[in-house]
Amino acid sequence: MASITDRPGFVPPPYPYDRLDRFKPLAERLDGGLVDLSIGTPIDPPPDAVLAALGSSDAERGYPASIGSLELRTAAQRWIGRRFDVTVPIAQIGACVGTKEFVGTLPQWLRLRRPDRDTVLFPAVAYPTYEMGAILAGCRAVPVLPNADGSLDLAAIAPADADRALVLWVNSPSNPTGALDDLASAAAWGRSHDVPVFSDECYVEFTWSGRGRTILEHGLDGLVAVHSLSKRSNLAGVRIGFYAGDGELVHYLQEVRKHVGLMVPGPSQAAGVAALEDDAHVAVQRDRYMRRLERLADVLGRWSGCDIPLPAGGFYLWFDAGDGWDFTERLAAEGGALVSPGDFYGAGGTQFVRVAVVQPDERIELVAARLGLG
Ligand SMILES: Cc1ncc(COP(=O)(O)O)c(C=O)c1O
Repeated sequence: MASITDRPGFVPPPYPYDRLDRFKPLAERLDGGLVDLSIGTPIDPPPDAVLAALGSSDAERGYPASIGSLELRTAAQRWIGRRFDVTVPIAQIGACVGTKEFVGTLPQWLRLRRPDRDTVLFPAVAYPTYEMGAILAGCRAVPVLPNADGSLDLAAIAPADADRALVLWVNSPSNPTGALDDLASAAAWGRSHDVPVFSDECYVEFTWSGRGRTILEHGLDGLVAVHSLSKRSNLAGVRIGFYAGDGELVHYLQEVRKHVGLMVPGPSQAAGVAALEDDAHVAVQRDRYMRRLERLADVLGRWSGCDIPLPAGGFYLWFDAGDGWDFTERLAAEGGALVSPGDFYGAGGTQFVRVAVVQPDERIELVAARLGLG
């Protein structure tokens, strides 16, 4: 008889970035060490007012509100109004502990609400957590292929998958491609198929082609926008994001998330208020990222001969390098820089490479100098 240990239970796959460890020694042996352009982790400072709020909130002792303090949700409401000219009732906004946990846990909550459905639709080349959230919930993860312009090919979604869908994820600007999606079409597709559309907009402040857009410009019914302060305000270590939109969906998520103790720490909530009320630091950060995108596109393009376009949004370069792993190894050895092979983001990315421009200018210049392009 088979013992319980013989059963093939869930084995978490290797975390994508851990697979890069073998390239680190190649870069570390160069003078000046490794220049890490792999994970999209911010390195620039958050605004002083945010750090002051973090240290002076007096919110350490008591449990924070899981749905987010009234001040935080009001600040989010005001930001959505200012940025997109959209009005969302405060009751239709909830806090999350950074958006990764929200993306990773959403399918299990939606499945409990709709046990007759079991499918998560997500962009075929994307942030891996959309698919992982489906897997962790025991759902079917069904990728949606892109059109040539990077928007989702919604017409290609099989009717049988649409009938079973709990959610359609969109991500605009996209990590990793930098493409902007057609949010009006996604909203219309969701409504006509009775599938909630969740729109991950955490890079929206770094939209380079036209103004930043939210799916909520197309109404709130059946739509939820997901935002993070990690990228906007260099607060990835503080863990704060929020979701806003459809009244019933948001209310359901607020309630179910309370039961698991998903709470943004009180001091982080206070920091979030200060961050959302300030736009000046975002303008400074936009300039930094655009400068680094342009410099690295030029340096890596000249070194490799690859055609490296600037993205329509986000702070990643995404380009066809022939073979993503081969390029990554060569760049680690010759330039001492670590980037991400495109297959981290789906099989469609195998030939590609993603470069996160999250190092100070002088570190980027070090890479340029190593490649003979200083
Ligand atoms: C597309 C996308 N969504 C969500 C996240 C999660 O960010 P956080 O959990 O810091 O809010 C990231 C982080 O890289 C991302 O790229």
